[in-house]
Amino acid sequence: MNLTELKKRFDVLFGQENMKAFFSPGRINLIGEHTDYNGGNVFPCAITLGTYGLASKREDKLINFYSENFPELGVITIDLDNLEYDPADKWTNYPKGMLKFLKESGYLIDQGLNILYYGNIPNGAGLSSSASIELLTGFIVQTLFNLDIDRLELIKIGQRVENEFIGVNSGIMDQFAVGKGEKDAAILLDCNTLEYELIPVVLEDHSIVIMNTKKRRELADSKYNERRSECEQALEELQKELSISSLGELDEHTFSEHQSILSNENILKRARHAVSENQRTLKAASALKAGKLTEFGKLMNESHISLKDDYEVTGPELDAMVQAAWEQPGVLGARMTGAGFGGCAIAIVEDSTIDAFIDQVGKQYQEKIGYPGEFYIAQISDGLKILEEELV
Ligand code: GLA
Repeated sequence: MNLTELKKRFDVLFGQENMKAFFSPGRINLIGEHTDYNGGNVFPCAITLGTYGLASKREDKLINFYSENFPELGVITIDLDNLEYDPADKWTNYPKGMLKFLKESGYLIDQGLNILYYGNIPNGAGLSSSASIELLTGFIVQTLFNLDIDRLELIKIGQRVENEFIGVNSGIMDQFAVGKGEKDAAILLDCNTLEYELIPVVLEDHSIVIMNTKKRRELADSKYNERRSECEQALEELQKELSISSLGELDEHTFSEHQSILSNENILKRARHAVSENQRTLKAASALKAGKLTEFGKLMNESHISLKDDYEVTGPELDAMVQAAWEQPGVLGARMTGAGFGGCAIAIVEDSTIDAFIDQVGKQYQEKIGYPGEFYIAQISDGLKILEEELV
């Protein structure tokens, strides 16, 4: 669906008076997986796949949500004064949570809204469609009600929606990437201090290929929370010997000197990943900055292996995809991206071999897993924006 079609649909549903159009990206993470909630570093970028939002204010206190991705659900109407989580309200719980926490934070939202959403992020692919919707909603409200909200606050409110409204104990990476992304740059974010640096993604004659396993992350949320509490346990146990407040503060040497205090092998593996991945992320960011692409790719590969063997969040589909990618000529590196358990992987591939790459990896994946994957070339995009030219 293009914007013209979306505008028509909005007009039919709500009339187009005072309508504005917005865009919110999805994200990929180049490296630094499951490090955000461990006080470590991440290295994501916003992508041009994302969510479009068309919105106008209403005179009453009703909020009409419509998603072009779920047309069968029709318009879902919610009262601005009743913003409680309700499973029956399906995907609208994400924007609802955003509105609720914005109101609770003291922002005056005293009129209803019509909002039409359309996302071209593949569903359940682990490219942060939920963070994209959260921040899009926050940004729409901020713009239409002229609210003075700092971007970081919007990001934190988005994370609260996941944690406290939806019940996934995720870190801040996704919302940060969506809210602060910039074209052709990756964000090296220290999740402990929230200090960050934008590093240009210069890949010379290479591109990032997104490889979708099309395996939905159904079990992801419970497993995600499990990993998080395993890391919390590891931290508590290490704190008996070390004065640290997060695993992200440890280097590999200090960790290996103290790892014998950990009460079981599982906990040890989880913590070892958190520590090694954080160090890898710093090394990878420096490598990219220095134009050392081969080294960057090698670190990506190591990241996948650690996520597979130590963190155990890959699964047969992601492993099959990444293994096939590793075997192709012209590939600098490949790894899963996001929470894991399914969803997408990424590879850095020489431009001249991309067609053959997609063909071969596609074949090998289908042979092994039994159904086809999907491939997209990632373009690194800006974060949230108003589509100025599209204002009516
Ligand atoms: C999900 C979460 C993020 C992060 C990644 C794993 O995308 O939302 O906060 O923890 O998984 O790196």
